[in-house]
Amino acid sequence: MLRAGSADVFHVYEAIAVGPHALLGEVIKLGPDDFVAQIYEDTTGLKPGDAVTGSGQPLSISLGPGLLGGIFDGLLRPLNAADGPFIQPGARGKPAQRFSFEPSVRLGERIRPGQTIGSVATARRQLCLAPPGMGPGIVRWVASAGEYSGEEPICRLELEEGATCEVALTHAWPVRKPRPAAQRLPIAGPMITGQRILDTLFPVGRGSRAAVPGGFGTGKTVLQEALAKWSDADIIIYVGCGERGNEMSEVLDELPKLQDSRSGRPLMERTVIIANTSNMPVAAREASVYTAITVAEYFRDQGLHVALMADSTSRWAEALREVSGRLGELPGEAGYPAYLSSRLAEFYERAGRVSTLAGTEGSVTIIGAISPPAGDLSEPVTMHTRRCVRTFWALDRARAHARFYPAVNPLQSYSGDVEALARWWQIQGNPDWLAQRKRLLELLEAQVQLERMARIVGMDALPPAQQLTLSNADLVNEAVLRQSSFSEVDRYCSPQRQTAILGLIIRFIDLARGAVEAGVHPDRIRELPVRRTLQRIGEEYGEERIAGIGALWKQLESEFAGLPREHANAG
Ligand SMILES: Nc1ncnc2c1ncn2[C@@H]1O[C@H](COP(=O)(O)OP(=O)(O)O)[C@@H](O)[C@H]1O
Ligand SMILES: [Mg+2]
Repeated sequence: MLRAGSADVFHVYEAIAVGPHALLGEVIKLGPDDFVAQIYEDTTGLKPGDAVTGSGQPLSISLGPGLLGGIFDGLLRPLNAADGPFIQPGARGKPAQRFSFEPSVRLGERIRPGQTIGSVATARRQLCLAPPGMGPGIVRWVASAGEYSGEEPICRLELEEGATCEVALTHAWPVRKPRPAAQRLPIAGPMITGQRILDTLFPVGRGSRAAVPGGFGTGKTVLQEALAKWSDADIIIYVGCGERGNEMSEVLDELPKLQDSRSGRPLMERTVIIANTSNMPVAAREASVYTAITVAEYFRDQGLHVALMADSTSRWAEALREVSGRLGELPGEAGYPAYLSSRLAEFYERAGRVSTLAGTEGSVTIIGAISPPAGDLSEPVTMHTRRCVRTFWALDRARAHARFYPAVNPLQSYSGDVEALARWWQIQGNPDWLAQRKRLLELLEAQVQLERMARIVGMDALPPAQQLTLSNADLVNEAVLRQSSFSEVDRYCSPQRQTAILGLIIRFIDLARGAVEAGVHPDRIRELPVRRTLQRIGEEYGEERIAGIGALWKQLESEFAGLPREHANAG
């Protein structure tokens, strides 16, 4: 934080360079004769009288083909493994990388902002777009196919008023300004996560937004990583936002070693990591989520589906609180500034499925983790986030303690995308998805009520139908909801396998109910060998054994047919 004179020379949110090392900063408040700036770097050594140079521009980042596979700080400066997690003061981070460019426009062609000019062959093919901020123009020169740095011009345009404009592979974009799209589109399909409890019960649409609140150790980071590994997004942006330094270094250690499940290539080839550990200046944390969402939009504009994981937005909110406190602003709930809710909304609103300026479809899906103090879901960050997101995955301490993972509490979680996704499941071959998920949720709700009752009157005092409900709910928990991220076989569950498992479980529930109505005691059903198999179905019937799940239907029918109908049950 810097307070200095001569306020009239700068704008609010103007990027500035401070002191002999030209430390990066941003003006955040203008007074009548002074201004306040936050410096995104360690300010040790700054002294009165040091020069401040304005850039005339808002805080911007450089977007280009060198981002994929990289690890950056909150201002998108590369963190090189060689330097450790630290950056030289004032570093702007322009790696001298060269890219193999192939033009796709012709001389004399008219180019609109955001339109494709060519492509770049990195580990995966990336499009080079005319910056969305410029005006339309006519191509007067375009570079031939070859190797270029990010800053060299690859195309010259004549703009409408006769001015010319040079386009490079890299362009700057202000982080706080959403990148434009041609049109926002409604949610039409899910972002498949491969986690049954999410895809089947609480799905998130492509271009939608979800929050994962959970106390310490409930599995936020493991879940975010599972999503990074398995979700069907083209590009993953992972922003580690001020969680404990060692936790971030675990992620930095682990993600680069992982393989992409689908392509068999390194996962990092489609990943950008933005790391802001708690030992970095607090103000840089505030900038990092804007940096991350801007990078996400940059890939969206190339017609890609992007998933952005932020772990954790609570640390970001704490950075807002700290900066606000230093500005002497009036604190609101729990000391957070009154604008906490609007900042959260601005961030989540940048998620979406769009038709891009280039005329293709792209999306950004945001998954934000929240670490509520003491797991209290009524604290301000969780409460305000709830209003911004459509899907809410509440992680539960009791489930985590019981080592029941993912520890998503099915009664506290919800998804606003369910109706929009029913058609997608129908096309995938499950027209009953909507009704089936509703039945599972009703069963899980009934379980909580009946367990309460059973604690009072004792399990044996419950009528057989209710005992069966409890045992069926157990089965749903074990077979459908439980899924270990560390299991080779079960860490990913395809939509086809989810459909097969779900259908079989629903069939079991129906047959069991019929049997109990016909007088079979629930204990007999509990003892059926097929039920034991079902309990472990995720582990035993992996992706290569989906056909085997179909074969279990026969066993199911025949075991139920063989049950002795002992006595007629009146109740
Ligand atoms: N989906 C999961 N499958 C298996 N184990 C899990 C899962 N989620 C969490 N765990 C266990 O819980 C521990 C804590 O999870 P973590 O994600 O670090 O919690 P948080 O980020 O919420 O503090 C992990 O080290 C792991 O042992
Ligand atoms: Mg964590």
